[in-house]
Amino acid sequence: MALYQTTPTYFEFAGNAVRRFLYSFITWALAAHSTVINFYLLSFKRPRTYRQKKQIMQHEFSLEYARSLDSNDALRKYREQFYAPYFQNRRAIYFLGNSLGLQPKNAQQEVMAIMEGWANFGVEGFFLGDDPWINYHKKITPLLCDIIGAKNEEIVTMNHLTVNLHLLMVSFYQPTPTRYKIICEAKAFPSDQYAFQSQVKLHGFNPADAIIEVYPKEGTDLITTEDIEAVIDLHKDSVALVLFSGVNYYTGQAFDIKAITEAAHKAGAYAGFDLAHAAGNIKLQLHDWQVDFACWCNYKYLNSGPGAIAGCFIHERNASNTELPRLQGWWGNDIANRFKMSDTFTATPTAESWAMSTSPMMLLAAHKASLDMFAAAGFDILLHKAKALSDYLFFALNHINQPAAKFRIITPANPDERGCQVSLSVHKNAKAVFDTLLPFGIFADWREPNVIRIAPVPLYNSFEEIYIFAEVLQQILNAA
Ligand SMILES: Cc1ncc(COP(=O)(O)O)c(C=O)c1O
Repeated sequence: MALYQTTPTYFEFAGNAVRRFLYSFITWALAAHSTVINFYLLSFKRPRTYRQKKQIMQHEFSLEYARSLDSNDALRKYREQFYAPYFQNRRAIYFLGNSLGLQPKNAQQEVMAIMEGWANFGVEGFFLGDDPWINYHKKITPLLCDIIGAKNEEIVTMNHLTVNLHLLMVSFYQPTPTRYKIICEAKAFPSDQYAFQSQVKLHGFNPADAIIEVYPKEGTDLITTEDIEAVIDLHKDSVALVLFSGVNYYTGQAFDIKAITEAAHKAGAYAGFDLAHAAGNIKLQLHDWQVDFACWCNYKYLNSGPGAIAGCFIHERNASNTELPRLQGWWGNDIANRFKMSDTFTATPTAESWAMSTSPMMLLAAHKASLDMFAAAGFDILLHKAKALSDYLFFALNHINQPAAKFRIITPANPDERGCQVSLSVHKNAKAVFDTLLPFGIFADWREPNVIRIAPVPLYNSFEEIYIFAEVLQQILNAA
């Protein structure tokens, strides 16, 4: 969604006369240069083995060095297992895994299998064939356990993220006249803010009083765990729910989910998380951290397609409580009774009893194709490469950002406090700088007023792409 809203296509870029006029000087100055750079940098010469003796502790800013990192990358074969946009006949550098992950090539096959089942069996596809759809979710949930850090019984795949946020708040935001506040991060993703506001109003409270936002300290970009704990403590007698993101969409900051959960529980509140930017991006141990509930989308780091089916976690101590209020639908009814068409709803003691509607099989199939790839690659290995990519990206950005700083990295420098995404707050002509990336075949993401977000991901991005990006950015910044 964000990609198409925020990233202009080349044709929009080229066709916008006003912008073209404003940015023509930069584009003109770089045009000759860029052709040379693109040919050179994107030529994909055979990587030379480069200082293999040298450990990858001290980075170098060179194409050869970046390629040497790629040639030692155990996951490099996965890059070719994705479709990628092409730009001027070359594979684009796609740093938008935090927006819409690329399409795994196995997804079409998986979706086609459902189409064939539909063609061959009609509605009986739910029960007939080699792979009856009624059991399909059972192949998905185990693939998510490792990624989410959850047990099978704690996961349900359904609906979309904002819808699930509302459904889970029905269960976990049950305010009383004295305990009714929601504590969240300042500038949470707008859809979450709208969800909080509408839920609070639905229960007859005033959002201005009931929603407590935790801000970064004056002059800083990040919210510390201590600040969050302090605000929770301040409202300990009136807070009903603490709801944070796992990774903030704007800064890329990963919050300490365990510490926030503990602080919420100490105050007598539920702890829930929006993991849109965390699922598939950072290590999660939701069960062990005692998180009450969480929800996430699967179209970002989990590469399951635009508008992909989303996921929910409900801790087993809550999922097993069949008395917990929830909105009911027939797909959440115990399978033993589901097709008896009786008026009795029997909740199973698992997260699946939060499901409401018939499984969207094509969406599930695309999701499964992606999760199969995660399982084949190994999630811990992926996280390891993600850290290496982001480490090199930090190095490259710091390298080009001197002697005079042209941007500030607002994402935490500490690798434990971030995932793949790095956000740059650009000091001068930020939008022009961003708009000049696409003509170089670099897909990045823009957030008002001056932030460029980039997210190199381990399955399909390379160290070489990071080098090229930094090299191009340096030239654009120098010309801007
Ligand atoms: C943090 C966060 N929350 C919520 C949403 C909304 O998700 P959906 O449109 O799938 O409901 C997004 C979308 O990008 C997001 O980034």
